[in-house]
Amino acid sequence: MSLLVRPQIQNNVGGVQVKKVKVGIIGCGNISSVYFEAGSKFNILEIVACADLDLARAQDKAEEFHIPKACSVEELLADPEIEIVVNLTIPSAHAEIHMRALEAGKHTYGEKPLAIELEDAQRILAFAKSKGLLVGSAPDTFLGGGIQTCRKLIDDGWIGKPIAASACMMSRGPESFHPNPDFLYQKGAGPMFDIGPYYLAAFVNLIGPVRRIAGAAQTTFHERMVTCEPNYGRKFPVETPTHISGTLEFENGAIGTITTSFDVWGTRSPNIEIHGTEGSLIVPDPNQFGGTVYLKRRDYAEFKEVPLTHGFTSNSRGLGLMDMAYAIRNGTEHRADGEFAYHVLELMHGFFISSEEGKYYETKSTCKKPEPFLLDMQKNGF
Ligand SMILES: NC(=O)c1ccc[n+]([C@@H]2O[C@H](COP(=O)([O-])OP(=O)(O)OC[C@H]3O[C@@H](n4cnc5c(N)ncnc54)[C@H](O)[C@@H]3O)[C@@H](O)[C@H]2O)c1
Repeated sequence: MSLLVRPQIQNNVGGVQVKKVKVGIIGCGNISSVYFEAGSKFNILEIVACADLDLARAQDKAEEFHIPKACSVEELLADPEIEIVVNLTIPSAHAEIHMRALEAGKHTYGEKPLAIELEDAQRILAFAKSKGLLVGSAPDTFLGGGIQTCRKLIDDGWIGKPIAASACMMSRGPESFHPNPDFLYQKGAGPMFDIGPYYLAAFVNLIGPVRRIAGAAQTTFHERMVTCEPNYGRKFPVETPTHISGTLEFENGAIGTITTSFDVWGTRSPNIEIHGTEGSLIVPDPNQFGGTVYLKRRDYAEFKEVPLTHGFTSNSRGLGLMDMAYAIRNGTEHRADGEFAYHVLELMHGFFISSEEGKYYETKSTCKKPEPFLLDMQKNGF
């Protein structure tokens, strides 16, 4: 069934409201609050339980967000009411929690990355397929108003055929604001795995899948220091590359470049630019849902700001989860799906493999470009 069928119409066919999808959240840390809020933001979702290795954390969130049950992971997975498990654990636990949720017969949606290792992600997708269950993964920022506006401009031909793209995420790293940044310098994190998914998901959504890539990666500083309180001055080791540059050849022939870095003091490079045969597009920060879009066509003297055509421009994490819930009820496909997340994960690994082997990495996976959102989805109470 086509994704272009409006979910908000399907939500109320003949005046009959579609049954809410009951959700259990595993992992009640920093990012979880915005997902708990998704329960009241998106009609189709009902968050009925939460769990964490640290039960007190789950209890605190349950109290704050009026969730009926805080419990152990085992209890949550055994709850027959729950249809989707939302996996907000740390990256090294993503694969295990996804698999346990699927083994318990639940659909599963999680924070990025889908898993750290490609083999684990393959196992998750194969098992889900064999059981007829759905897998979804952040990032879902590409479903926000900023990037959906860019997608519409590209789909409607405003820049002609995309031929080139660039992405740049460079900073001096999270130790200046994160009190415990150690995990962000371990395997499965670093600038490519932690922030790269936003940029690569935007690329694949705007241009399409990638057929081969080349990468150069270095660990510039082997030790870092926390530069914010309360741990100011504490040193810690770096266990993953912190400056990665790569090139991408898209299946449609466009060529892209990307740099992700935690090593530089400043940059003026735009987050993402897409260049086409008829014009160029400046895409807003793909780690946000809104932002400002600029377009320069061949007959414009300068870039012009384009008003955003789509909704969901503030922090709307959970949008991909909401889309998956509608897919479950309506038997449709969903956008931030496992196949898409797997392709993004393979690209991240590919830059490292190419750097180590000194040659191009040919991707083994591909995916469909997710269907764009409709213009009036938010306005109509979607
Ligand atoms: N914090 C952010 O701003 C942010 C933004 C975007 C994405 N993310 C992603 O969200 C995920 C979580 O990040 P966070 O910042 O909330 O981390 P966090 O460390 O604050 O929270 C993770 C929680 O998961 C729990 N947990 C870990 N392993 C578990 C297991 N096996 N079973 C049950 N609970 C377990 C921990 O006890 C902790 O409460 C990560 O994948 C991260 O990349 C975080």
